[in-house]
Amino acid sequence: MSRNLIQLISLLAMVFLPFTEAAASEQITLKFSHVVAENTPKGLMANKFKELVESRLGDRVKVEVFPNSQLFNDDMALEALLLGDIQFAAPTLSKFSHYTRKLQVYDLPFLFRDMAAVERFQKSPTGQQLLKSMEPLGLTGLGYLHNGLKQISADSPLRVPADAMGKKFRIMSSDVLRAQFDALDAISIKKPFSEVFTLLQTKAIDGQENSWSNIYSKKFHEVQPFITESNHGLVDYMVVTSTEFWNGLDNDLRAGLKQAMEDAITYGNQMAEQKSVHDRQAIIDSERSEVLQLSDRERDQWVNVMEPVWHKFESDIGKSVIEAALASNNTP
Ligand code: SIN
Repeated sequence: MSRNLIQLISLLAMVFLPFTEAAASEQITLKFSHVVAENTPKGLMANKFKELVESRLGDRVKVEVFPNSQLFNDDMALEALLLGDIQFAAPTLSKFSHYTRKLQVYDLPFLFRDMAAVERFQKSPTGQQLLKSMEPLGLTGLGYLHNGLKQISADSPLRVPADAMGKKFRIMSSDVLRAQFDALDAISIKKPFSEVFTLLQTKAIDGQENSWSNIYSKKFHEVQPFITESNHGLVDYMVVTSTEFWNGLDNDLRAGLKQAMEDAITYGNQMAEQKSVHDRQAIIDSERSEVLQLSDRERDQWVNVMEPVWHKFESDIGKSVIEAALASNNTP
């Protein structure tokens, strides 16, 4: 065994051993870092996880939740998981492309008809395989969590794709999203979620795309006079942990955490459904931003411009994965 490998194994043992040893005797503290507000599907899910773990597992485990990028933004959170600095994160599916290209399927524009189709795909054998796709790299997916479909906000009304031409949009760190805005002849800038409000407020960018819940909870609608209800993409999450940490837990502690996570995700998904409706209406009622409905003809134009992006990513993602996602649009 090489010297470097021995050093790496010793380092990982130093990072993760405390959890196995402490699990049997003293209290352990688990950190859950995320980037959104507490009153969002993910924020509520993380707090529910804390509540369930602490009430069910008693003094054995304390969970600390860090919302609003207090600890890490999403790109750094995955590294922090691998280093053992935090134990749970739930980045959007758009932010995993350094670890697997297959999850890019979730970013393909106009792929899923609605959230029910997303749910069917995630429960399918292909969706479940994707949860495990990063295990060789040290990340274990514990479950999917919904937020909602994406809308495009801007400083001027976007009714047809040509209206977006030449405008600057913030995107998440995804090459698919970059290609999507390239197809519109728009400029895209990859920036962390924590910077979006200021970029919009200072007019450093013209627009962005996000779910109703993220737009409302971060007040993007207060600095963006128009939101096109395009439902063209998806904000959805994978709750992840470090494989090393997870497999190193003693069996009954891991089973308790797994059950608490499943229950918290079920709750978070219920909140996602409610918030998509509530936060959309709250934005309309605020009268700070005009919500633009697309006619069928206008919508067809967006689909025609954006959909060709699929072909560019087909070999990275895998044709069978895209076909399985498409099949989920058919109701059983
Ligand atoms: C999130 O919902 O976690 C953040 C989404 C974004 O980066 O736009």
